[in-house]
Amino acid sequence: RVAGPSSLVLFGITGDLARKKLVPALYDLATRGLLPPSFGLVGFARRNPDNDDFAAVLKESVKTHSRAPFDEDVWAQLSAGMRFVEGEFDDDDAFGRLALTLAELEEQRGTLGNHAFYLSIPPKTFEQVCRQLSKHGLAKADGDAWRRVVIEKPFGHDLASARKLNEIVESVFPPDCVFRIDHYLGKETVQNILALRFVNRLFEPVWNASHVDHVQITMAEDIGTSGRAGYYDGVGAARDVIQNHLLQLLALTAMEEPLSFNAEDLRAEKEKVLAAVQLPADLSQQSARGQFTGGWQGGELVQGYLEEDGIAADSTTETYAAIRLDINTRRWAGVPFYLRSGKRLGRRVTEIAVVFKHAPNRLFAGQSQDDLGQNTVVIRVQPDEGVTLRFSSKVPGTQMEVRDVTMDFGYGHAFTESSPEAYERLILDVLLGEPPLFPRHREVELSWRIFDPFQGYWASLTERPEPYAPGSWGPASADELLARDGRSWRRP
Ligand code: BG6
Repeated sequence: RVAGPSSLVLFGITGDLARKKLVPALYDLATRGLLPPSFGLVGFARRNPDNDDFAAVLKESVKTHSRAPFDEDVWAQLSAGMRFVEGEFDDDDAFGRLALTLAELEEQRGTLGNHAFYLSIPPKTFEQVCRQLSKHGLAKADGDAWRRVVIEKPFGHDLASARKLNEIVESVFPPDCVFRIDHYLGKETVQNILALRFVNRLFEPVWNASHVDHVQITMAEDIGTSGRAGYYDGVGAARDVIQNHLLQLLALTAMEEPLSFNAEDLRAEKEKVLAAVQLPADLSQQSARGQFTGGWQGGELVQGYLEEDGIAADSTTETYAAIRLDINTRRWAGVPFYLRSGKRLGRRVTEIAVVFKHAPNRLFAGQSQDDLGQNTVVIRVQPDEGVTLRFSSKVPGTQMEVRDVTMDFGYGHAFTESSPEAYERLILDVLLGEPPLFPRHREVELSWRIFDPFQGYWASLTERPEPYAPGSWGPASADELLARDGRSWRRP
């Protein structure tokens, strides 16, 4: 699977994502021989007030953030195809120069006129950039050449804005040329949910309401907004990651077996699950939100959210959110899915825990304890990628006593192959024109349908998000949410 002749135009080449993830991912692809020798990378940057040497800046980023060790030859090959165009998004001349640059690259490097436009820029600028691409004849390909557009989440900030955004993008690019990136889908462990469930025989027969008590999906981060205050404030945990990454994890965990792993079949099954999601009747009882305060975290004194640079002093943006969702299908009726995410929590961990019901008959001493014998399959998305199975075992000795134990599969032990970084996989798929890992518009709409009511409810509250200490596991109201159902959160 080596990409064919093509160029990638990166809008926002000087941004955080481009420097930390996208360009290093391209370099890693080049190291693994997955980019064509003729590959072209065009960075479109709005300003260059410091007169930076873009190539030198990117070289440093690659040295710092790529997974592969730095190799001058690989860099020389990649950077020979790099061009930079400076200008504002409303500047016709700049887009004229972009068209010219792409034509030159085609001639000099043989990119065959295949271009992917990666919009790693604020969503409010998408419309302008799409219109400019269309106006300068860049959006429509001639003959066999292809044109694709890649957009990063957030795809809107609610259902109405997501629809509008989609109309704009799809008025310029046909739907099958639009690649929406949710980088969680590029993660090896996320794709493995499908393998675990549908390649094996063991799990599917019990993966349903007859056997599963509930599911917990956790995405915890130990960092604060880490320099992204401008983006994060006003967005918050629910819109930033639950509406997209966590709902994708829910969809993959709960969906029916697809007819195949092609884009159409996979998306259809995910959409069916999202469409079947039922909102809680009382949002106040089945959601929680919080905001981290300052304090000690792992031996370090950290600022509270409101003191972080660029955050409004009275901001009510949540840095933690937890919700309960139900899925109205025969497979899942009555099985709650609890989703939570937060910044500045105890540790960085993303996992899906499928918690099973107790055995119908509790025969052994100690088995009356609530948490004993409650089998759990934990899909460890990151770090320490793998799967854990929790079950009870007899404690050695003369008594018939049981205790919970775990059985572990870890990628690091089981495989010598290393996992590609999420963006490597996704960028390669864009260049190959492989859409299964990219949600289509309906999926995005369905996920906003779930989230709009939560956002509306939180916006209607007069009280501030509940404070929680850095390094903790979130606000007390999140624990109460589960306690009301007679359950508790796992401590990963
Ligand atoms: C991004 C969010 O989508 O995912 C960030 O905008 C978050 O706020 C990041 O930190 C986490 O990604 P990962 O791959 O480190 O889990």
